[in-house]
Amino acid sequence: MSTVLLAGGAGYIGSHTAVELLAAGYDVVIADNYSNSCPEAVKRVEEISGKSVRTYECDIKDSAELDRIFSENSIDAVIHFAGLKAVGESVAKPVLYYRNNIDTTLSLLESMERAGVKRIIFSSSATVYGEENPVPYTEEMPRGTCTNPYGWTKVMMEQILEDAARADKELAVVLLRYFNPIGAHPSGRIGEDPQGIPNNLMPYVSQVAVGRREKLTIFGNDYDTPDGTARRDYIHVVDLAKGHVKAIGYVLEHSGVEVFNLGTGTPYSVTEIVDTFEKVNGVPVPHVYGERRPGDLPESYANADKALAVLGWQTEKDLSDMCRDAWNWQKNNPNGYNK
Ligand code: NAD
Ligand code: UD1
Repeated sequence: MSTVLLAGGAGYIGSHTAVELLAAGYDVVIADNYSNSCPEAVKRVEEISGKSVRTYECDIKDSAELDRIFSENSIDAVIHFAGLKAVGESVAKPVLYYRNNIDTTLSLLESMERAGVKRIIFSSSATVYGEENPVPYTEEMPRGTCTNPYGWTKVMMEQILEDAARADKELAVVLLRYFNPIGAHPSGRIGEDPQGIPNNLMPYVSQVAVGRREKLTIFGNDYDTPDGTARRDYIHVVDLAKGHVKAIGYVLEHSGVEVFNLGTGTPYSVTEIVDTFEKVNGVPVPHVYGERRPGDLPESYANADKALAVLGWQTEKDLSDMCRDAWNWQKNNPNGYNK
């Protein structure tokens, strides 16, 4: 069976993907500097899967470390999750974001070339559709104008990977554009563990519900949407992880570049998220309405047809599953991995 290197694999999406790849029979190697994760997450991946995972604590920018990983393991494909992802922080520290996110990509591509590894899947984002494109987004739309450096790093890395594949016809690149991953593994053993005050909606909702934060502020209720709050394409992280298993199958068999949206195709509003969370879990989520958050779009959701047609992948879990599993993780791990 093939071996997959997960760069940044100890993080939220990487850890769930590791579980699904192991369940599908792949061998997994994780390399992570734990800048936004911890070794405990990998221990729990091993616990859930009953399999062991070879792990390297290293910076993906470090070419010598990467060369060592490729020489010590027979890697068939790489999934590149390693990146900084906090939008607000990227506005305050753009150089840090460009350095980390671009350099990890360049170092990986260089080491892959030296090692003769020709297959890579990249964690991109719906943010690359920018402000101009109409919803629902389809893969052939041009990349748009981003509102922050984080988004621009994704646009630039997609371009870099496309150029690399154009120059090397043996290279296989899959760009996965994630919509809004939420929820957690149903076991409640792995989940999203943001450092400090969460930027994203679902971790904030969960932390309010568990009493770590007083109330949620809903950013804007004057959008041109059915209930006035912004709508997003929330996707269960386990469905997203299974999308990576399908994408690995694809990238092992094809060359060139292929882009896939990983979303459900159905948008939900902030109010619908709060209402569903309260109803499914029987816990209150105190909230108030506030100003719009700068840079937010009224709506973002996928046309998910291509992933179904080409990869045979579609989501299986609904919003109730997402809210239930997010809460199951939060209440069993009120302080994340730092119990
Ligand atoms: P995460 O922060 O939980 O995981 C990223 C992992 O990469 C972390 O474990 C971190 O320690 C590691 N990392 C960062 N820089 C590194 C470096 N230089 N060397 C080694 N390890 C490094 O984030 P996530 O939510 O799992 O996201 C994974 C990827 O998906 C990221 O590239 C992110 O931008 C992208 N993405 C995430 C979302 C989302 O909503 N979570 C949406 C779209 C795209
Ligand atoms: C954000 C990023 C996006 C990134 C994604 C995953 C921006 C502009 N976009 O997407 O680039 O890929 O996270 O990291 O930051 N909300 C509230 N109150 C809160 C938090 C959020 O009302 O306390 C609302 C937001 O206004 C938005 C929705 O909830 O309408 C979802 O927000 P969030 O989870 O941050 O995701 P995005 O903004 O879609």
